Amino acid sequence: MELRSDQWYAGQDRNAYIHRAWMRRGVPDDAFTGRPQIAIANTASDLTPCNAHLTEVAQSVKNGVYEAGGIPLELPVVSLGETNVRPTAMLWRNMAAMATEEMLRANAIDGVVLLGGCDKTIPSLLMAASSVDLPAVVVPGGPMLTGTFQGVPLGCGTDMWRLSEEVRAGTLSQADFVRSESATIRSRGHCNTMGTASTMALVAEALGTVLPGTAGTPAPDSRLLQAAHATGRLAVEMVAADRRPSTFLTTGSFANAIVALAAVGGSTNAVVHLLAIAGRLGIDLTLDDFDRIGSRVPVLVDLQPAGRFLMEDFHRAGGLLAVLREVRDLLDPTALTVTGRPLVESLTDAPVWDAEVIRPRSAPLVAEGGIAVLRGNLAPDGALIKPAAASPHLLRHRGRAVVFDSIEDFQARIDDPDLDVDADSVMVLRGCGPRGYPGMPEVANLPLPKKLLALGVRDMVRVCDGRMSGTAYGTVVLHVAPEAAAGGPLALVRTGDVISLDVGARRLDLEVPEDELAARVPDPATVAAFADPRRGWERLYVDHVQQADTGADLDFLVGSSGSGVIRESH
Ligand code: FES
Ligand code: MG
Repeated sequence: MELRSDQWYAGQDRNAYIHRAWMRRGVPDDAFTGRPQIAIANTASDLTPCNAHLTEVAQSVKNGVYEAGGIPLELPVVSLGETNVRPTAMLWRNMAAMATEEMLRANAIDGVVLLGGCDKTIPSLLMAASSVDLPAVVVPGGPMLTGTFQGVPLGCGTDMWRLSEEVRAGTLSQADFVRSESATIRSRGHCNTMGTASTMALVAEALGTVLPGTAGTPAPDSRLLQAAHATGRLAVEMVAADRRPSTFLTTGSFANAIVALAAVGGSTNAVVHLLAIAGRLGIDLTLDDFDRIGSRVPVLVDLQPAGRFLMEDFHRAGGLLAVLREVRDLLDPTALTVTGRPLVESLTDAPVWDAEVIRPRSAPLVAEGGIAVLRGNLAPDGALIKPAAASPHLLRHRGRAVVFDSIEDFQARIDDPDLDVDADSVMVLRGCGPRGYPGMPEVANLPLPKKLLALGVRDMVRVCDGRMSGTAYGTVVLHVAPEAAAGGPLALVRTGDVISLDVGARRLDLEVPEDELAARVPDPATVAAFADPRRGWERLYVDHVQQADTGADLDFLVGSSGSGVIRESH
């Protein structure tokens, strides 16, 4: 078998000597002759607590690689901890993808196992691997176990949003709120709701990039290590078969991912991530494909934030394959996985063990639950809403805009008793797109005004050019494109304008006459709130980031360069 790594290690000349000599470190003599060099791109980090256990997972991958005759090589890559990284982990997704891409290409490897978990880590790894196009397979780190507080399960994120609203409404004491903190995170692993991390793990499997049956296995479950071991073996097989992303990922693979996203009631964040991954592969995926393929798919999984249960329950109930079996007729039967076999082949023996958690097709949680794509004069290039997480009575709504130019502006004024806002108002937050913030943070699910919470209001229409956490809920229109900072009409909205939302008709409109709107310019205060970084990654990002409707990748990172490196290092 001819290996890419032979370019470094084969032969008796000075350069081959140098490449081998420094890499010996105890490996056998035959490590450099015909044995696939398998990188383990590892996002383990103490600053990404959701991924900290991946070092143990990497050990199981290594065992599998060795067993199959390969040489495992751990490669620590940029890691992003969702809850702490400022100003938002999304600002660094493309940087992580770029750094990982370059290190995979620059090194003497033949294939890679990608270890991710926390929200941005699997997307950045898949973007990188797609652009390098070496055999690549993901091991998702898995969700944490269910924590309980006062006898009640606590879902990561979702219950925290809920409890903090209860404090603001005066129905929960601050002391009890803080007491729940240590109960939320029960074990290793990523968020246990159907947030972005769970969603991306499942979507990666539906896409075909994970050993089928692995995603959703809880992080502390020994079956995760077993799957990691099997994935190590598989990576060696993939090199032998030259099974690169470009050889098996197709439009049909993405269609399957969109069906899975809808059926599990997954995060809106998956839309930007899938668009970005498709962009790296040169696959023509558009925002409208999400609506066309996904919006009529029933939500079958009763998990927070759309429903009640958590990932441990989901795994116990049969996991992703059981869900996909219910919607098998909607899947592309030709789409392949890392195994070289069609995804649908994995569905033959995939029973549902708990029909409360994974509903039958005949009794879905939400009949048409996928993500809806809205257009109108307020979002010419599109905006998203997740109807399953919204209030049915607000899906068709007209209301007066209450506009905020930044999250700081919002925080300063939202609880002002004199703020002119009522339950019918539409709260608008702008300056939170990829360029404006920068990085498109998860702020779109704005907290409601205290005075309305006290009246029992629990949801309002919100419109934003940012994102929201996959664990959040509410009638939130988000990813508005173009964003205010990129010349989008969102910058022109004034407090008091009427905004109309009609999810059934897929419309989001500003009811301002066309000529009046054309004559408006953004307020200086609106423009002043847009980011204008002086140097570094932020400058590069703001100058090159694309809008949400095409995946918010950097323009010069779209596409692939393959794995070739012509020049020697010395
Ligand atoms: Fe890491 Fe939620 S914070 S997955
Ligand atoms: Mg998040």
